[in-house]
Amino acid sequence: MGDTMLIHNDLAALQKGLATLPRPVALVPTMGALHQGHLSLVREAKRRASSVVISIFVNPAQFGPNEDLAAYPRRLAEDVQLLESEGVDLLWAPPAEAIYPPGFSTTISVAGVSEGLCGAVRPDHFAGVATIVLKLFNQLRPDIALFGEKDWQQLVVIRRMARDLDLTHPAAEAIVGVPTVREADGLALSSRNAYLSPEDRARAAVLPAAMREAAARIAPGAQAAPALAELERALLAGGFASVDYAVLADAQSLAPLARLGPNPARLFVAARIGGTRLIDNMAVTHSPPTAPPAFSPNDD
Ligand code: PAF
Repeated sequence: MGDTMLIHNDLAALQKGLATLPRPVALVPTMGALHQGHLSLVREAKRRASSVVISIFVNPAQFGPNEDLAAYPRRLAEDVQLLESEGVDLLWAPPAEAIYPPGFSTTISVAGVSEGLCGAVRPDHFAGVATIVLKLFNQLRPDIALFGEKDWQQLVVIRRMARDLDLTHPAAEAIVGVPTVREADGLALSSRNAYLSPEDRARAAVLPAAMREAAARIAPGAQAAPALAELERALLAGGFASVDYAVLADAQSLAPLARLGPNPARLFVAARIGGTRLIDNMAVTHSPPTAPPAFSPNDD
């Protein structure tokens, strides 16, 4: 364990605390309810930087009117314990006024990469994410920032913003994606998994399994549609109520692909089970694995 973690919820005190930290400083922005996926970000941050800063803020601007803002898990005391045991240097847990003071009127909107996939179903979500992330970058001025690949589209949106706005703290190249951490049955870790009933939690394993299957079936040059249709069918047969999307897309532009080409591509799925919306994504490569779909932690 490192020295005592600094905990700040006041902007002026935060600036003083930040000034004491050895550089480079890595930032892991979160909404709390921390799990092993977040801790893998913290551990990667520790490998890459001299100091690690975490932010915890449940950002209202990225929740739609009928989404789970009120129900979103809040566990600050447990989160603090976890972060202290990981040797995090500073926690920024701002009150809403430190992020959205009265009169706040600015929105960062990243066109293109925000619009498909989750953006088509959650129209204001990525503007809410980009706005808070830029605000956190400006408050904390990190040298690098780490985000989970579980939210691949979010990662692409933030990199695009950093490039477009010539950010320096962090620069676009210093925005690091960390592979998804999975349960033993393959389900990607997410704070929202806590909403699942035990029955739905067991059924949810069909999502990564069916995605693995589809990723293996998508052959270079051949139409992806049959594998995607089979994926959707497997999810509905396996207990999912609906599928928002199941798409093969370019890993960088997020443009949907009819077939696997030479550029890196990923499979993206959002589907609902028992009122909970789960998302996942995985790489689709030219040489699909021949082994059975066994998962190992961080496997992607
Ligand atoms: O990924 C998250 O937890 C959130 O979208 C983030 C990046 C902390 C912004 O609120």
